[in-house]
Amino acid sequence: MSDEGRILRFQIFRYNPQKTGDKPRMVTYEVTEAPGMTIFIALNDIRENQDPSLQFDFICRAGICGSCGMVINGAPDLACRTLTSKFEDGEITLLPLPGFELIGDLSVNTGKFMRAMSERVESWIHDLDADKVNYDKLEERMDPDVMEEVYELERCVECGCCISACATKRMRPDFLSAVGFMRLARYHLDPRDKRTDDDFYEIIGDDDGVFGCMTLLGCEDYCPKDLPHQTQIAFLRRKMALVK
Ligand code: SF4
Ligand code: SF4
Ligand code: FES
Repeated sequence: MSDEGRILRFQIFRYNPQKTGDKPRMVTYEVTEAPGMTIFIALNDIRENQDPSLQFDFICRAGICGSCGMVINGAPDLACRTLTSKFEDGEITLLPLPGFELIGDLSVNTGKFMRAMSERVESWIHDLDADKVNYDKLEERMDPDVMEEVYELERCVECGCCISACATKRMRPDFLSAVGFMRLARYHLDPRDKRTDDDFYEIIGDDDGVFGCMTLLGCEDYCPKDLPHQTQIAFLRRKMALVK
């Protein structure tokens, strides 16, 4: 059935913190739906034809860059991967992802958070021999099955949806959260990383780490890349509980 011609009614959060005197508010826009329309396409339509000041982020339009995360009818998701046809009544409410610094309207600064998270979990291979530079050394061989597992955990696009869906993160700003656990699990799995469980415990062995997680699994429910948060959080927690 074609949904062409249906009028969609968007309620969009507007607020520019850089503009003196601006106040947070919801603004209504109407858009004529086109076949295969995504929230991202509709937002571009609004920006081009109704309000050029509307702020939102995108780069890839293919669910890869993670820039277009926002709260769509109450659920964190990627605007470029969400079809408007999903909303039968044509009423769509858009809010910026909570838990991040607001840049303006639907745009938030996920990059600042992700950079701090990467530094906190020391998001690189810790090889004790790395300082012994040897340009003649052959590339290290990896077991393809292990590499498959590493790739599986590496699919995160840093969109921030899991953070916005996490009640613990909202209550405890220093909570590492699911994206950090997933990153750490990826290095824990990688045989080239020589860190021990004691080393990982130093990063996540407290209430701001895995022991603070309430296991309500908003991260699992709202990760648009379907990363296995439940399994990895349970795995890390068991591992860390065994560290003496
Ligand atoms: S399971 Fe843990 S990390 Fe995931 S949303 Fe819940 S509290 Fe946050
Ligand atoms: S783990 Fe999933 S929800 Fe969280 S930032 Fe990565 S892709 Fe987004
Ligand atoms: S625009 Fe890149 S994930 Fe949506």
